[in-house]
Parts: sequence; structure tokens; C-alpha cells
Amino acid sequence: MILITGANGHLGGATIDFLLKKNPNSKIKALVRAEEKGKDFKAKGVELAIGDYLNYDSLVNAFKGVETFLLVSSSTMGDRHAQHANAIKAAKQNGVKHIVYTSVLGGNPNSKFSAGIDHYKTEEDIKNSGIAYTIMRNTYYADFLPDIIGNALESGAIYYSSGNAKINFAARINMAEANAVVLSDITNHQNKIYEITSGSKYTFDEIAGMLSEITGKQIKYVDIPVEALKENIIKFGMPKEVAELMGSIAESMKAGEFDFIDPTLEKLLGRKPVDLKDFLLNVYKK
Ligand SMILES: NC(=O)c1ccc[n+]([C@@H]2O[C@H](COP(=O)([O-])OP(=O)(O)OC[C@H]3O[C@@H](n4cnc5c(N)ncnc54)[C@H](OP(=O)(O)O)[C@@H]3O)[C@@H](O)[C@H]2O)c1
Repeated sequence: MILITGANGHLGGATIDFLLKKNPNSKIKALVRAEEKGKDFKAKGVELAIGDYLNYDSLVNAFKGVETFLLVSSSTMGDRHAQHANAIKAAKQNGVKHIVYTSVLGGNPNSKFSAGIDHYKTEEDIKNSGIAYTIMRNTYYADFLPDIIGNALESGAIYYSSGNAKINFAARINMAEANAVVLSDITNHQNKIYEITSGSKYTFDEIAGMLSEITGKQIKYVDIPVEALKENIIKFGMPKEVAELMGSIAESMKAGEFDFIDPTLEKLLGRKPVDLKDFLLNVYKK
């Protein structure tokens, strides 16, 4: 039995669909935070567990009969490391044999990406748990890029703070498929750390060029100080903590932390991952 958390989210949900596509008889338990979020799973033959990273007893209950665990990193702000630590402890208590964790590219304690520290600490907890593991160190989602591009098609400019750094963006759907490849053949991925990237990386100047080509509109990239970026996010109505997180993402990109290409995703998929050019074409073509 495989327990998948974040099952109601994009990555966890797509991982379940890929697992079922590979083997419709896969034994899967989907963890959601509230019953109504899991109503579609029963029709797919997926068991439901109700649980929250912040509620230890709910996790212990969810792990009953589970051998393999996909820990999708939490989207709840606050101490994400403590949330993940709860899940790892509950997995250990229930004799789970293998944890697959969705971490971040390069996972290191000195990252400028604020949530990167939580990922690093979670990786350490998993390694110290004595449970076999596979760490999927995902680069930034290409799916996240339209939020950064914002209204550039109307304004003619992308305002961001990653300087001239190249950044590797990969399609979340490819990452979900890679999760399913690993989960369905778990003994071949014991105690491995995978850097999950697409096959290319681009600066925001190049991304603006691609958008211009796709849309036929002249779009430029304007590099702004990270403090101005954070102010814009707050003006847009987002909380300060979100602005801080977003600022740290831009800073991590600018520092070259995502200027990286690794062939693992291509190997797991057995084909080339989606290139950012094709991803953007799909989103922005008329
Ligand atoms: N690499 C990247 O560029 C990137 C970008 C954004 C996020 N991420 C990380 O990757 C994760 C998966 O991405 P995604 O696109 O699938 O995000 P998503 O669609 O927002 O899904 C996040 C999932 O986490 C669940 N969750 C949140 N807090 C929880 C808690 N306290 N206990 C149990 N479950 C909880 C949510 O449950 P509900 O459905 O109940 O809300 C949701 O199902 C995110 O959570 C985040 O950590 C990575």
C-alpha cells in the first residue's frame, strides 16, 4: 500500500493518476485534510485517509497498512519542517519501509530560498530515520512561471529580480510522472537522491524573448531590486510572509542555485522532459 499526501493538490493528484495508468490495481491510499476533498478518489479505487501534518494522531491512523509513503512537501506556511517531521515520525511508528520525499533542487542549508532550509532539515530527518528513501529534488515548476509573468502581455514587461541568471524550470506533470515511476519500482530507487530538472535553462531575458515570439507582442524583461518585487506582491494584496517567500525564490534564482541541468528526469521518463519553450507555447498560444 502506498500512502500519498497532498493527494488533493496538483502534484500528489497527478502522481496518483500516473500510478493508476501504469497499474489500475495499484494499492493507493490518498491523504486529504477533509473528507469532501477526497470524494473523487473512491471512484478510482483509491482508499481515503483523513489527516493533517499538524495532527500527529491523524497521521498515525493514516499509516495503518502502509509500506511506501510519498511525502509531498506541505503548502501550509509556518514551520514546514515540524509538519514533515510529524509525518516521518508517524511513518516510523507504523513500520513504513520506504519514504519518497518531494524536496528542492540542490537541497542545502545555505540556500537563499527560505523554504529550502525546511527541505534540507526534512531530508536529514528522513536519512536519520533508518527508513529507506528516495529524495526527488524538484526544480521550480514551469507552472509557477505565469504567476511571475503576470500581466506582461498587456504591460509589455516582466518585472522580476533574478538578474541575468539562468533558471531551470520543469513541468510539474513530468515531476508527477517521475514520482509514479519511482513508486511503482521502489526497490530500484533505494536511498537515492535525484535532482529533477528539465533539459534546458533560460534567463528572464530569454523568457521574455520566447513570449514575444509566441504572442507577437514586444515583451521585455526589467530587472528590479528584490525589495521592489516584495512591495509589488504586497500591493497586489498578498500577505507579507508570501512576499518574503517569493523574494527568497527570486534571490535563489539570481544566486544561480537553479542554473543546473541533470539527466535524471529524462532517464526516469524515458523521453525528454517538456522544454520551457513548449510549455509557454501551450499556455500563451492563441
Ligand atoms: N517546485 C516548485 O516550483 C514548487 C512550487 C510550489 C510549491 N511547491 C511545493 O510542492 C508541493 C506540491 O506542489 P503542488 O503544486 O501539488 O501544491 P498544491 O496543489 O498547493 O498542493 C499542496 C497539497 O498539500 C496539502 N497540505 C497543505 N498543508 C497540509 C497539511 N498541514 N497537512 C496535510 N496536507 C497538507 C494540501 O491539502 P489541501 O488540498 O487540503 O489544501 C494540498 O493537497 C507544495 O505543497 C509545495 O511544498 C513546489
